[in-house]
Amino acid sequence: MQNLTLNNGVTMPALGLGVFQSPPDETAAAVETALGLGYRHIDTAAAYANERQVGEGMRASGLDRDDVFLETKVWVSDYGTDETRHAFEKATRKLGVDTLDLLILHQPAPARWERTLAAYRALEGLLADGLVRAIGVSNFMPQHLARLLPEVDVVPAVNQIELHPYFQQTDVQKADTEAGILTQAWSPIGGITFYPGPWGERRSVLTDETLAALAASHGKSPAQIMLRWGVQQGRSVIPKSTNPTRIAENLDVFDFELSADELARIDALDTGVRSGPDPDAPRDDFFDRVIPEE
Ligand code: A2P
Repeated sequence: MQNLTLNNGVTMPALGLGVFQSPPDETAAAVETALGLGYRHIDTAAAYANERQVGEGMRASGLDRDDVFLETKVWVSDYGTDETRHAFEKATRKLGVDTLDLLILHQPAPARWERTLAAYRALEGLLADGLVRAIGVSNFMPQHLARLLPEVDVVPAVNQIELHPYFQQTDVQKADTEAGILTQAWSPIGGITFYPGPWGERRSVLTDETLAALAASHGKSPAQIMLRWGVQQGRSVIPKSTNPTRIAENLDVFDFELSADELARIDALDTGVRSGPDPDAPRDDFFDRVIPEE
């Protein structure tokens, strides 16, 4: 496993298990399987409603708490000074841990900027108190970073954004790099391009011909090519799977290399079209969603 060093010196495994859309009743088994196979990084979120099951899977693995890099996210309805502090308490209670390795804001709330800022400052307080080892953001576009950075003391360690070959957000990657923020890819194998939902017709990146050709020439799968592309370019990737075979497949990306030309062929697949929600326009109902206490 390759490690990445965050801007505060904390190290994080480059590849972790994502659990977005992992049904709660399958999450504990997926986490236990992943940790048994050698994963040491799990990414969840209060809004995924499966933090409790992530904690169960961690305990079932038999690993020490310190052996696992645990990341979760504060949902927008919990933004605020006291609210975000309380969100940490809710998350750690559900996860069954005392501290978190990485706690990030799930997305900016541009129309409620003061609350976004208060939430980030609460993360800074948790960091100062030693309750989280690193803090960061998610779905922050360059304009959101430009608003945040002059107002805060701690540069986010991570910005987790939609990032797969069809949507690479090179402008965000550049803004992250300039600020010393590590870009973390959500949907790194493009699940968001084929998840069923209210999004209409989509083209699945998993069936892309260029990726299929690269996969064939390396004896790997398209998913493995995409993950290798991500880690080789220095990003953190957190593929989601609840299927044991695919969980194993997604970890098996450290025994081959893509050439500069192959990386460039993947770079050229960018469509510039987002599949996930627009971070500049969070829906009002996002703020009505209450994250339960238990
Ligand atoms: P499943 O959980 O049944 O494996 P992303 O993390 O990019 O959003 O992708 C997640 C989606 O991709 C899920 O639908 C997941 O389904 C599927 N998936 C995960 N790993 C693989 C793989 N190696 N090959 C094909 N599909 C995969």
